[in-house]
Amino acid sequence: MMGRVPEHVTIIMDGNGRWAKKQGLKRVFGHKAGVESVRQATEFAAEKGIKYLSLFAFSDENWSRPQDEVSALMELMVDAILKETPTLVKNNVKFRVIGDMSRLPQRVLDKIASAEDTTKLNSGLCLIVFLSYSGKWDIMQAFDRYVNEEASAAEAKGAKFKFIPDQSKLESYLSTAGIPDPDLLIRTSGEQRISNYLLWQTAYTEFYFPEVLWPDFRKTHFQDALDVYTARERRYGKTGEQVNNL
Ligand code: IPE
Ligand code: IPE
Ligand code: MG
Repeated sequence: MMGRVPEHVTIIMDGNGRWAKKQGLKRVFGHKAGVESVRQATEFAAEKGIKYLSLFAFSDENWSRPQDEVSALMELMVDAILKETPTLVKNNVKFRVIGDMSRLPQRVLDKIASAEDTTKLNSGLCLIVFLSYSGKWDIMQAFDRYVNEEASAAEAKGAKFKFIPDQSKLESYLSTAGIPDPDLLIRTSGEQRISNYLLWQTAYTEFYFPEVLWPDFRKTHFQDALDVYTARERRYGKTGEQVNNL
């Protein structure tokens, strides 16, 4: 709807490597600088009354980057979670991580579990970090559990298994179950692709691709994105007249 603050904004935080290269620094310095942008985006989302802010931090495909970059990113993640948890608590932010946990080192898993637990009763902004995540992985794991549970239920009743696909049931198995689909997706650094991020959940999301590199992303850039979103008309397949009740 026009003029409304989006309920869920998701960001593909891209351009850290290019930012570092521009300053003649190693890629990891770009990732380090990006932590401040996360802080600012979180603060801004809370100020604006956005209910969900989700951030794509590390994709399934990013595991195939050079080992030293992957390790540095994991260290940075642990550090940031440890350092920021008190601020999240103070600001009533609920923190969640979504992704293929089976690929994450135990140290990272422990920090995530502790930060999630500490903030689980908070009722303000919900901050979701997608880590070791890919859209195809999510759909496949959902489909796998869905079919298996239906088959077991049929077996328990002694009934013959006949799979009847149901969209909302599949959704209930996605790792994002219970979280509204993103209203707005921002990808920084000028790249205009989804890179195997939320595939199912962005069916009717508005997309915005600013040129700014993630480490330079500040509240003014976030405000620009909200202004663009507000001016868009979401039709969901209907006509403009229907949407505007003309
Ligand atoms: C985004 O920045 C961070 C991650 C993918 C982890 P990049 O590291 O992709 O930066 P560019 O795209 O190489 O500039
Ligand atoms: C997407 O960025 C993943 C994250 C920002 C976490 P990439 O930099 O990995 O994507 P591609 O490879 O340019 O599509
Ligand atoms: Mg990139």
